[in-house]
Amino acid sequence: MRHCMTTKPWDFGIQDELRRVDEKLSDMVQSEESVLTDAAMHVISAGGKRLRPTVTILSYRALGGKDTDRIVDIAAAFELIHSATLIHDDINDGGSTRRGRESVYKKWGLHDAIVTGDFLFVKAFRIGGVFDKVIVETTADACAALAEGEVLQNRFRHRKDLTVDAYLRVAERKTAMPIKAGAMVGGYLAGGSANDIQTLGSYGLDLGIAFQIIDDILDFTGDEDRLGKMVGNDLKEGHLTLPSLLAIKSSEEARKAILDVVSQENPSSDEVRRCTELVIKSGAIEKAKGMGEYYGMEALGHLGCLLGNEYSKGLRNLVSRVLGRDF
Ligand code: IPE
Ligand code: IPE
Ligand code: MG
Ligand code: MG
Repeated sequence: MRHCMTTKPWDFGIQDELRRVDEKLSDMVQSEESVLTDAAMHVISAGGKRLRPTVTILSYRALGGKDTDRIVDIAAAFELIHSATLIHDDINDGGSTRRGRESVYKKWGLHDAIVTGDFLFVKAFRIGGVFDKVIVETTADACAALAEGEVLQNRFRHRKDLTVDAYLRVAERKTAMPIKAGAMVGGYLAGGSANDIQTLGSYGLDLGIAFQIIDDILDFTGDEDRLGKMVGNDLKEGHLTLPSLLAIKSSEEARKAILDVVSQENPSSDEVRRCTELVIKSGAIEKAKGMGEYYGMEALGHLGCLLGNEYSKGLRNLVSRVLGRDF
């Protein structure tokens, strides 16, 4: 798996800001303990979609924000938090590949991976801590929600009784709330009205849920080289997600096979593959896609209240990019 996503896939007229976000990320992870810098740069320099900085910067620009120094800093903070969660998430999910590279815990071991994640969280707060109280609180609350989402998800691991509602609650907390926070912080820094900031938050939340639904679909249908991470891992790790949840309602055969696989500690690759085929055959992917599109439409609906400029157009286009992505 050599694919490495160093090129930035989405261009919404903020390439200069995103380049400066990358510079800020490199600056922030310098440490006299080289393992922290090396492990952090291993993830950061592998690229990634930079979705969180993109949402934060576009939100700022959409509300007329002009001075880019502060927004670049806070956008980098959101990407640092995201990078930390990726490192920790691969430990929790047994993910051996990330952004086309060996995952940090595989390369450096558990101990260094845990501290590198913590290091990145702290560096994010090093940046965010000098901003207004409302920004610090919004960001910290999003990190707490993320942790709560992870706990909730883990509680349902190997269990057969996850509901679509509970699935959505997990997606909202672990993925959508941090994206919502980034959008609101962008709006706040631009000096937006309370209404506009709320609008951006609602947009970020629905975009984030759509994003996680697509991620969960790609775990069944995606290409490992293109994604830069393993596929088929959710069922293997004992997690029902939207596609498998919808598939178990489609036939007795799918229900039995999928619930059997998620309840096992170590299902065989053959069993996982068979379930993947059953999910695809069941039509659940199309149904899940439909739900993703619903959240995408909701996200677009919120933006209707915003004044139009090229950056709010960018926020709009981002919805279809998220829904159509295959990486
Ligand atoms: C992966 O996030 C974790 C999820 C919330 C699904 P991304 O898919 O945004 O990862 P990168 O940043 O592009 O690598
Ligand atoms: C994202 O969910 C969890 C985080 C918020 C880090 P996943 O566990 O599905 O993310 P991937 O698929 O490993 O990127
Ligand atoms: Mg994972
Ligand atoms: Mg996933």
